[in-house]
Amino acid sequence: MTDLLKQAYDPENFRDQAHRLVDLIADHLEASASQSEKTVLPWLDPDVRLVKWQNDLTQDFDFEPFWKDTINETIHIHHPKYLGHQVCASLPLAGLGEMLNGTLNNGSAIYEMGPVSTVMERIVIEWLTTAMGFSKEASGVLTSGGSLGNLTALLAARQHQSGYDHWTVGKTDGFRPAILVSDESHYSVSRAVQIMGWGEKGVIRVPTDTDHKLDASRLEEVYKIAESQGLKVLVLVGNACSTSTGAYDPLDKMADFSQKKGLWFHVDGAHGGAAAITPKYRHLTKGIERADSVVIDFHKMLGISALTTAVVFKDGKRSYETFNQKASYLLNDQEREPWFNSAMRTMECTKNMMGVKVYSILRTYGPQIFIDYFTSCYDLGKEFATLIKDNPDFELPYEPDSNIVCYRYIGSGRDDIELDKLNADIRIKLIESGKFYVVQTQIGDKTYLRSALMNPFTTKADIEELIQEIRMYGLLR
Ligand SMILES: Cc1ncc(COP(=O)(O)O)c(C=O)c1O
Repeated sequence: MTDLLKQAYDPENFRDQAHRLVDLIADHLEASASQSEKTVLPWLDPDVRLVKWQNDLTQDFDFEPFWKDTINETIHIHHPKYLGHQVCASLPLAGLGEMLNGTLNNGSAIYEMGPVSTVMERIVIEWLTTAMGFSKEASGVLTSGGSLGNLTALLAARQHQSGYDHWTVGKTDGFRPAILVSDESHYSVSRAVQIMGWGEKGVIRVPTDTDHKLDASRLEEVYKIAESQGLKVLVLVGNACSTSTGAYDPLDKMADFSQKKGLWFHVDGAHGGAAAITPKYRHLTKGIERADSVVIDFHKMLGISALTTAVVFKDGKRSYETFNQKASYLLNDQEREPWFNSAMRTMECTKNMMGVKVYSILRTYGPQIFIDYFTSCYDLGKEFATLIKDNPDFELPYEPDSNIVCYRYIGSGRDDIELDKLNADIRIKLIESGKFYVVQTQIGDKTYLRSALMNPFTTKADIEELIQEIRMYGLLR
């Protein structure tokens, strides 16, 4: 072993580095939460930042300045003025789970390579399915992100619904499968369909109503048109909730329709599916327990670090249909469909110890931690919407169901085209100032600012400050 390798593996060296790094992270979390750190996103042109770090690589190395600098240059998701995309302000303990994952490196897609994370994963899935209202027939897996989760579920749907062994045979001539999905669905759904080879025509958009929810009264008509065009509708996908506007589709009605037509009902609950485990917001997901499959991102509304996604099947057996594939060098016991080798059911061959991250939180704080995180953020969404409505120079385009709120500054005397540009410009100014992070979206043909309230530390005062800041930029233009 070389001296360099000896040094890199030295446990005392690791102990010292880990303690120092954890101190720096804890300082950062404290500074973010208390806002003694004023900046949310330390904006720098990407090319300028690239040169800075290229130069860094040529300098002498110093542990603490390096890590301090790295932390400082991150976007500070834990800052109360982070009001942007749907990534949670992860619970610090989940970060320690990540450290275990990174240092022990159990590639947990087969039991032998991840004994404890495998059983923890099963316990976590059983807890989740029960909390969501599924029967004990339900089961599932953890995987790396909602996008992969949607693909995993849709592959199982394809195998189950095709009427032949699609996995083995592939797509046959004249077989033109399709899914029905709202025009507000996340792009990972249509991407999954296109990965499966169903093409653009395989994604049939059902119009949404004025609240941006799938209009269930249009399902029959859209279904009939698709069938008359020779398409075979196999799957209906519901949003819980949609990405852009945070709207929940009418899942119960969609479950009725799926039952009537014999469709697979998949719910993309990557963001808000976990409402089902909360007493206060459960009503939003009424009918979710009738879905054949559901995806829930722990790294969005459940406080776990990315990526940690549950793919849940109402009938756990369906989970084995995703990949009807033999890999005898890994899996010797294929007849028994062993639950403990999740490689049978997930895309990953080498998989992070996701089970440990979720289980350790469940074990330390109990399920209430997930309910508290979710509910606090959704409550903040309501508060945000109320504050926008209280300010007549702002527009709230719809009443939000969730913690995803769209809004824009309207001031006075400007037309829609001017307002689109104005709000996009305001966002750039906000980001460049470093004081707030918000994103933008398109609703119809109009541009809106968009905030996902992901941080339980955010207060009414922070939101009021954001409104002031936006107004200031709006008035300056
Ligand atoms: C509704 C919905 N589905 C799927 C995804 C994709 O999830 P991930 O980013 O974990 O791949 C997102 C991400 O924002 C989402 O909002």
